[in-house]
Amino acid sequence: MTQTIRKAVIPVAGLGTRFLPATKAVPKEMLTVVDKPVVQYAVEEAQAAGIEHIIFVTGRNKHVIEDHFDHQFELETTLEQRGKTEALAGLRADLPQAGQVSYTRQQQALGLGHAVWCARALIDRSEPFAVLLPDMVMTGDPGCLSQMVAVHEKRGGNIVSVEACAPEEAHKYGIVSMGETHEDGSFEITGMVEKPEKGTAPSNYFMNGRYILDAAIMDLLGRHQTGAGGEIQLTDSMLDLMAQQPFHGVPFEGETYDCGSKLGFLSANIALGLANDTLGPELRAFIKSLDVCE
Ligand code: G1P
Repeated sequence: MTQTIRKAVIPVAGLGTRFLPATKAVPKEMLTVVDKPVVQYAVEEAQAAGIEHIIFVTGRNKHVIEDHFDHQFELETTLEQRGKTEALAGLRADLPQAGQVSYTRQQQALGLGHAVWCARALIDRSEPFAVLLPDMVMTGDPGCLSQMVAVHEKRGGNIVSVEACAPEEAHKYGIVSMGETHEDGSFEITGMVEKPEKGTAPSNYFMNGRYILDAAIMDLLGRHQTGAGGEIQLTDSMLDLMAQQPFHGVPFEGETYDCGSKLGFLSANIALGLANDTLGPELRAFIKSLDVCE
């Protein structure tokens, strides 16, 4: 029997340099896609997949993320007094309950692997855990992590969400090598490389920022070995864990928007805005009025 995944690590310590000057005082995870901050999409995806406890790995200037996932009594009281019940319900929906969220800090930006390692004391060694990179806003029904949990329930092991990219984009990501494909569309991962040199990627399947990992990864991350870009990479420790445990790739069915890039962020706002019941029709009419579509 496979184990339930109860905890998710969401690293939010990144500096957001690709998004300056917007991210000088506002964390990139708090930029808004339609009507919610980027990070809330990852939290809701985790909750929908059955995650009970979120561990944020934060850094300096990120305290508004803690405030966002907390009650705002003054605001809630005012909304209550004014009878704005719908807005109030929206504010309270999906708010983590007391004790369902933890924060730990990554004091230095030493890489994604280091950020995940910073959560080690909050992870149970006997249970696998999820990692969600919040820059990647994903639309899918069920959500990406739910799709992965379904495969985990059948196959166990470590699960990595992947999707295809253009070969000329492969050097920007972690890329997996594909082994045997299973009848449910998932496949055995036989290798992985972080940010391969142009023209050397073993496939065009990149890891799109969702992982289910055995807690043994923490010991491997604890070696603090540096890799691509001089950073402690999650990919390198996953590759080492692969020597002991199976890894399965799950091709994600849905859309991914890299909200760490300006284009991905704008695309997410347009796509999710168009899909929004209230805003969609008027936004569509506005885009049409711009006369940009052939
Ligand atoms: C990280 C991971 C990489 C993955 C990517 C997805 O890279 O290291 O393997 O493909 O996220 O966004 P980063 O974007 O932090 O450079």
